[in-house]
Order: sequence, then structure tokens, then C-alpha cells
Amino acid sequence: MCGIVAYIGDRTAFPILMKGLQRLEYRGYDSAGISLFNGGAKTYKCQGKVKDLQHLTNNQDVSGTVGMGHTRWATHGEPSDNNAHPHASMYGKFYVVHNGIIENYAHLKKELIQRGYSFVSETDTEVLANLIENIYLEEKVTAELAVRLALTRVVGAYGLVIVCADIPDALIAARKGSPLVIGVGEKEYFLASDAIPIVEYTDEVIYLQDEEVALISRDGLDLKTLNNDSISPHVEKINLSIDRIDKNGYNHFMLKEIHEQPSTITDTFRGRMAADESKFFLGGIMDVLPKLMGAKRIVMIACGTSWHAALVGEYLFERYARIPVEVEYASEFRYRNPIVYEDDLIIAISQSGETADTLAAIRQVKGSGATILGICNVAGSSLSRETHAGVYTHAGIEIGVASTKAFTSQITVLTMMALLLGSKRKTLSQDDYAMLIHEMAQIPAKIEEVLQKESKIKAIASIYKDVTNTFYMGRGLLFPVALEGALKLKEISYIHAEGYPAAEMKHGPIALIDEKMPVIALAIDDSSYDKMVSNIQEVKSRKGKVIALVTRGDKVIGKMADHIIEIPKCHEAVSPLLAVIPLQLLSYHIAVMRGCDVDQPRNLAKSVTVE
Ligand code: AGP
Repeated sequence: MCGIVAYIGDRTAFPILMKGLQRLEYRGYDSAGISLFNGGAKTYKCQGKVKDLQHLTNNQDVSGTVGMGHTRWATHGEPSDNNAHPHASMYGKFYVVHNGIIENYAHLKKELIQRGYSFVSETDTEVLANLIENIYLEEKVTAELAVRLALTRVVGAYGLVIVCADIPDALIAARKGSPLVIGVGEKEYFLASDAIPIVEYTDEVIYLQDEEVALISRDGLDLKTLNNDSISPHVEKINLSIDRIDKNGYNHFMLKEIHEQPSTITDTFRGRMAADESKFFLGGIMDVLPKLMGAKRIVMIACGTSWHAALVGEYLFERYARIPVEVEYASEFRYRNPIVYEDDLIIAISQSGETADTLAAIRQVKGSGATILGICNVAGSSLSRETHAGVYTHAGIEIGVASTKAFTSQITVLTMMALLLGSKRKTLSQDDYAMLIHEMAQIPAKIEEVLQKESKIKAIASIYKDVTNTFYMGRGLLFPVALEGALKLKEISYIHAEGYPAAEMKHGPIALIDEKMPVIALAIDDSSYDKMVSNIQEVKSRKGKVIALVTRGDKVIGKMADHIIEIPKCHEAVSPLLAVIPLQLLSYHIAVMRGCDVDQPRNLAKSVTVE
């Protein structure tokens, strides 16, 4: 979950590396470092953010047209100057930046210590640097071969950029499990963990595949497998505009991304909703439609917020397509030796498309014969390459670590898929299909209306910013939204929060209710309204503070709850897309008022590329 950047060309590398690290900082932000190669190596690294590294390099020699950089999310060794990357090998022959985990590093380290190596950090990466150096010096092979030989001994995941001090005018890049993109320029190359730092320089990229190693100089790129088979590089065009990765005047990327949702959901519809709202068309799954139509069971696999979207998908597919659905935490599914049949449909959901557990889970079921679909937000990501078919969410780059617009775009795709499948399987009448498409088409405008409530939500946030615990409760399609609301508050404000099916409260959690416990109740005008009214009364009768989300014009709950937040009337099937918006804003404003780093919450990273 670290961010790697590197450059080789004729430009000064330092500004390119520093800007790249700033753009990748959402991937990990507990320490950062760079190495520049210009007649010898200069390394600057420190605990803290990229701005601390910027401070460290002030008035220092930052010349050189070859360099590498890293922003870290600690796995092995706590955040510290010593554990920051780049790591040099003991005799200074190799410099390495690494994103991933070397699982057998302790074994390799022991071996190297017996060979006289000593270590200055606690990281797995320094072990790899020394292993490469040891092979290079002992076996007198080329730097590139030493890297390949060392990697054949490594167990784990890596995205790597390596420089050998003996050939400082070349970069060696390698990948297995962790993403690495190479931007192709005119006699120059830009390397990064994703395309964000590259787009301002070139729109031509090579996505390094697993077990590929690239030797890169100004004159060209030589691509091989670990087993020395040559590969001709596959250069792709990326259409990513620089303005999509700026805050556009908002204080935080998260707030910008919350306010982008009317347009991002419209983008998710684009080319997929008939102008006359008569049908949905999902090109990415048409080739496997017969498999979808005949699916006996759907298994949805995801993590975190994407898992909450899958739960919403479960309700929709069972209700409208009448196919049984199981929703699985990828991290548990992959180790449970699950039973998967060839007429099962697997739907893997991931914003980044790089979440290690989700990727491992789909690799686990590859041999079962089941059809594996992906719902993903990053073009060219591993998930989009390792699934049989899929649908991009088109939410645009999501930089805030707390997922917002990707969540609503995932739900939009799942809703379109469930309704499309329902109409194809005739488990959903054409009238209802058309009615629900019309309801979907209204969503962007209705979200605009909800966003107008921001100042009211901010006022409620100021009342509850100092609480230590919070409950979220909902029923049916809004139960997963309650879970999502709680996750948002947890991950950016560090307040302990739990989401619950409202009826479950009586089976234990209600014991925690007192005058200090705010409860966010999702009580819109849907099929479980009356039940939610009773659940709110149960909380109120124990002096709990209730913040109720209601349908505009609700006359009942306003008299019971301490605060109400109104959303426009909508059909139950699309209600998650509206109900989550106030919860995103509430958590955002509470976190800002608590002085939290909203875009880069402590201990988190945007894409979890290690187990
Ligand atoms: C959500 O706000 C978090 N960033 C996290 O739970 C995230 O949803 C999870 O890591 C899954 O990421 P993915 O969608 O990129 O696979």
C-alpha cells in the first residue's frame, strides 16, 4: 500500500519525483524518501509526510536525471527514518523502493546474516536489496539477472524499482501482485504505482504484469519474465485528465468527491441507460449474459466499503433477478476452501482493483469453471485483467482514502445489473423495469437536493463531534448503508461506531444506549417505515439521542427524534444512493471539526495491496 515513483530521462528528476509522491500519498503516508543518481547516489528519507521530505531536501543537492521515490504504509518495521525507503544494500551496490510484502524475508535475512550481512532497518525490503547484492557480487552476474535470480527466491508481493550503482543510467522494475505502471515518453520513462503521477507527462503506458522485469534506459525498455523469456511491451493509451486529480477548490478530496456524485453517477449511466429510459445496456457483460441468465447462485466478494455495496447488491439481485446471493469478505472466503460450482456467478467488487484479498479470492475460484465478473473503478487494474468480464464504475479517480463516490457508483452498477437481469429473466415486469429505470434517472438531481442540506448536517456534526461512540441503524436496503455510515465515521474521525439491522438492537446493543449515545436511524418512507418508528421509540425510551434520516414531509419522526435530516421521496430500490450522502457529509464534518486528516486518515491507505 505504498506509492512508488521513478524517472529516467533528460529532465531533472527531483521535481517529478516529489510531485509524483504527493499524488500517490493517499496510498501510504507514514514516511517518504527519494534517491537521486548523478555520478553517485544521494538518498533523502524521513518519517512523516511528503512535505516533511520536501523540508528535508531544502538547500540540499537534488540534481540528477535518474531517481526513485517512495511514500510508505508500514508493514515490516514501524514508521521511522531508518525504515523509510529507498533502502540501499550493505555495500551500496543496489537501491530499492518496494510496494508489497516479502513473506519469507526472515528466512532470507538469517541466511544473509550468516553470509556476513548486517541490517540498518527492520524492513523486508532491505533484505531484498542485500539478497540482490549478494547474488550480484557472489555469482558475478549482470544487475538485471541478479534481480531476477533474487526474485525467484522471494515469496510474497512486490512492485519494485531498483538501481544498480554500477549502471546508474538504468532502472530495473519488477512486479508481482502489486501494481506498477510505466509511462512512455520521448527518450524518458515515468514509473509509478498507478497512472495518477504519470498523466501530466504522457498518455502512453505499459502495465507491468506479474513476474515481469523491465530494464529501462533512456534509449529503450527491455522486458522479460523472471525466467528470461523476452516480452514485447504492450503500450496502452490512458484517458485521464489532470483536472480530475485536483481538489478544484474544495478543502479536501473527500468533500470534492462527495459533491461530485451527481456527475459521477451520471457518468456511470453514460452509454448504459437508453435515452428513453426503456432499458439498461451493459456492454462489458453482454458476452457472458447467458451465463448470468443461467446462474444458480451469485457469490459477491469484496472488502470494506465495496463489501457494503455488495450487501446492497444482494437485496437487489434477490428481489429483482430472483437469484440467491451470498456476500463474502474476500479475506475469509479465500481461506475457507469455499464450495463453488461452475454455474455460479462470482462478482468481485473493488474500487482500486488491487485489493490483495479480493484478487486472491478470485484466483482461488478460477479453476471452478464459475464465471467471474468484476466491478471496478480503475481501468487497467489487476481485477479488470483477471476477471472474465466486468463493468467499470466510471466514478473517476478517487483520492480520498474514505470511499464515497466509488460506493455510490458501485451501487449504481449493481442496481443496473440486477434490474437488467430481472428484465431478461422475466422476474421483473417491463412496467416495473421502466419505472425503476426512471427512478434511477432521477437520482443525480435528488443527490443535488441532499447536498443542499450540508449546512444543516454540519450543524448536527458540531453537536456530536466529541462523542466517543455512535450507532447507525437501518432495515432492508438501508442496513448496509448503516454499516457504511459507521465505517465512514470510524475511519476518518476515529470515533467508535457500529451499524446494525435496527431489529438487532434489542438483542444486545441497546444495552449501550444512554443519553451520551447518538443513534443515526435511517427511517425513510419505505416498506419498513413503521418498524423503524418503533425502533426509534425504543432508543428514545432509553434517553438515546436520535438523528433520523427521513423522507421529506415526514410528520411523525420529527416529533420523536432529536434531529431530522430530510431526503427527497424515492423508490426503496434506489434509496441507498440518497441515504448514504448525509452520512458521508456528517462523518466528514465531524472529522474536520476534530482536526483529523480527512483525506489521509491515520493507519489507513487507499488500496490494500498486501494481506
Ligand atoms: C473505504 O472507505 C476504505 N478505504 C476501505 O474499506 C476500502 O473500501 C477497502 O479497502 C476496499 O478497497 P477496494 O474497493 O479498492 O477493493
